[in-house]
Amino acid sequence: MNKPFKVKLGSIEAVPMGQGLSFSVEGEEIAIFRSRAGEVSAIENKCPHANGPLAEGIIGEGKVVCPLHGHQFDLSTGKGCDRNESVRSFPAWIENGELYIDYSTTSPELVVL
Ligand code: FES
Repeated sequence: MNKPFKVKLGSIEAVPMGQGLSFSVEGEEIAIFRSRAGEVSAIENKCPHANGPLAEGIIGEGKVVCPLHGHQFDLSTGKGCDRNESVRSFPAWIENGELYIDYSTTSPELVVL
């Protein structure tokens, strides 16, 4: 998939400030995060370590901590912070109070150890 694929996920108010929420897009679970500063980010909702639900992780300093074993991932790039792991990331933005992602983005490569 190479063309931009804009997906509307609904009101940003569904995502609590400082937390994440999982959405299903084309059969894939995507974790949406809303920082306390109001920024949004989107990554795969499946930790490459053992499929932990990243949307349920704690966020801070631009990272999410997996709720199962604590591996960390950058919310902008999906790159793992502690190990050679990464998840896909997607551009996310707000238009008129509605949340959107570009589902066509496929970077970085998924690495599973
Ligand atoms: S499943 Fe995420 S760190 Fe183990």
